[in-house]
Amino acid sequence: MNARQMWATGLAGYLLDLSRFAKGGPLNLHSLTKYRVINALARRGGGTCLIEIGTFLGITAARCTRAFDTVLTVDLDAQLAALAAKGLAKFRNVTAYQGDAVTLLPQMLAHPGAGKAVVFLDAHYCGGNTARGELPEPALDELDILARHRDRIVGIVIDDFRCVGVEEGFPTNAQLLAAAEAHSPIPPLRSGHCAIRS
Ligand SMILES: C[S@@+](CC[C@H](N)C(=O)[O-])C[C@H]1O[C@@H](n2cnc3c(N)ncnc32)[C@H](O)[C@@H]1O
Repeated sequence: MNARQMWATGLAGYLLDLSRFAKGGPLNLHSLTKYRVINALARRGGGTCLIEIGTFLGITAARCTRAFDTVLTVDLDAQLAALAAKGLAKFRNVTAYQGDAVTLLPQMLAHPGAGKAVVFLDAHYCGGNTARGELPEPALDELDILARHRDRIVGIVIDDFRCVGVEEGFPTNAQLLAAAEAHSPIPPLRSGHCAIRS
């Protein structure tokens, strides 16, 4: 998908999200809407780095190259990571990692460009050729690692929240919210500094 197609598809999804939101319907946000949530958190908290856990094809990473000085993204699947890295190579501010998110997150946080960061937790098996790690949804372990850097994490977006407590091996809603609340400098859902979206 070229840049123009990516933005056109993104706009269509965004308009659909707005229309569903206006009708009060259930929302599974499209990628441009997710980008806008991530970008809004960064602007609110002065974030200069996006750390994306789960690259897939690199669409969110590519979008975020405009809004962030540094974009760091990781995917467990070797083929997907290679494909995404190829597509992202034209952006000088992106580093694409391949490997398990929980193993590589400390290294990503130690990257010289990882100053104040927004973190997008989106690593789990989602069908097709995507990877299934040791933990189907490693968000609790990721939140544990992020807690050690809480002074510079300006926002955490947890994607696909509808699968939490539903999909096998995922944490429960209560576990995830408790972990986010325990580790976030400002409690999630109350302050808006930590957004949780489906
Ligand atoms: C929902 S997709 C990511 C979509 C992407 N964030 C975007 O916005 O376009 C989830 C990705 O997480 C990857 N994944 C699954 N388990 C992982 C793990 N433990 N570590 C890193 N990546 C993982 C899968 O291979 C898959 O590509």
